[in-house]
Amino acid sequence: MSAVFSSAEPFDAVDVIRRKRDRHELSDAQIDWVIDAYTRGDVADEQMSALAMAILLNGMTHRETARWTTAMIASGERLDFSSLHSPGGAQRPTADKHSTGGVGDKITLPLAPLVAVFGVAVPQLSGRGLGHTGGTLDKLESIPGWRASLTNGEMMAQLGEVGAVVCAAGAGLAPADKKLYALRDVTGTVEAIPLIASSIMSKKIAEGTGTLVLDVKVGTGAFMKDEAQARELAQTMVALGSDAGVHTVALLTDMGTPLGLTAGNAIEVEESVEVLAGGGPEDVVELTVRLAEEMLAGAGVHDGDPAAALRDGRAMDVWRRMITAQGGDPDAPLPRAKESETVYAPADGVLVGLDALSVGVAAWRLGAGRARKEDAVQPGAGVRLHAKPGATVRAGEPLMTLLTDTPDRFARAKEALDGAVTIAPDGSRPARRLIIDRIA
Ligand code: URA
Repeated sequence: MSAVFSSAEPFDAVDVIRRKRDRHELSDAQIDWVIDAYTRGDVADEQMSALAMAILLNGMTHRETARWTTAMIASGERLDFSSLHSPGGAQRPTADKHSTGGVGDKITLPLAPLVAVFGVAVPQLSGRGLGHTGGTLDKLESIPGWRASLTNGEMMAQLGEVGAVVCAAGAGLAPADKKLYALRDVTGTVEAIPLIASSIMSKKIAEGTGTLVLDVKVGTGAFMKDEAQARELAQTMVALGSDAGVHTVALLTDMGTPLGLTAGNAIEVEESVEVLAGGGPEDVVELTVRLAEEMLAGAGVHDGDPAAALRDGRAMDVWRRMITAQGGDPDAPLPRAKESETVYAPADGVLVGLDALSVGVAAWRLGAGRARKEDAVQPGAGVRLHAKPGATVRAGEPLMTLLTDTPDRFARAKEALDGAVTIAPDGSRPARRLIIDRIA
């Protein structure tokens, strides 16, 4: 029987739901209770779904969102990196980046080792992909031997020795969010800004980083399709981080077209290694360097030159140690898809549009992503782009290569790409600002 009728509980879930339904603020005590009771199983899933829907429809004040975040942090453990020290003996600063997710977003891979070059420890707890946006762990798992799950002790040891770790968040971190996020996913309540902001920030604050740089994506391939919503999400998260004593900055960045020239798993690792070798696509390099600058500034390092550390191999050295420390072989050949099919330019002109969502869905349908949490991904699957907006193309030239192990997937992937490409007459220029704004 639900705790609604239990006299031991200080509140009644139905009263809390009604309060939010009727557009009143929840008290701190109500929020603390509902999160705790839901985590314990004393507030039922159907009650929490009703409350999440009331929050989606009626919003939360900043105070409510901050308290909701604190309550979710309190549902689990908090990591503490204060025992990490620099060679000189001073406490080592920590910095992390979180992206709200997009197509071809492999930035964490070059970024974590790059920032570690400058003595800042990077504890990057990451996730797997769901739907059309890829997951960092899925990408790294395409490296033979690499392992995502580390104990807290292993994570600390790697941070001390290598300076960077990208691994799965343990079950102990904000368990209330794990349960609530899974529920929101199946009840149409993901898209509530207070719930998204508190979900992301509870995990990042519990993780214990000193500096956090948020990459809030805007565009068809992002969670937030329009700039006003993305801005509101960024402002809410920056305020939550700052309130919790975490130095937090957000960049609003474009996700109207994929980042770089690859969307998949192994092919994104390959592209990241090109960036670490001083090459790679311009937009991936630009965003990596800019996010590194923000992380370093937040951590108090003002004399670093991340672009130089990509060019001269220092970031690559840390990458190799980081991959090796987690059982991976940085020299092993990456898996390749068994089958490929090319998509050709339909006309002459300038490529002015290449829709991120369509490419993301195509990569997902080819096997790079999963529809359900339990599904496996194909490491070699994905989409390799041969041109980006701004390029001049000729009819019949290859525009992209579709990759999969299971050729019956090509037809549905091509359906997703219907209308994804816009070619305009020569002389047209696509307008793209990769970094739209900075919110601090
Ligand atoms: N990512 C999260 O971790 N939580 C959300 O609510 C949305 C995206």
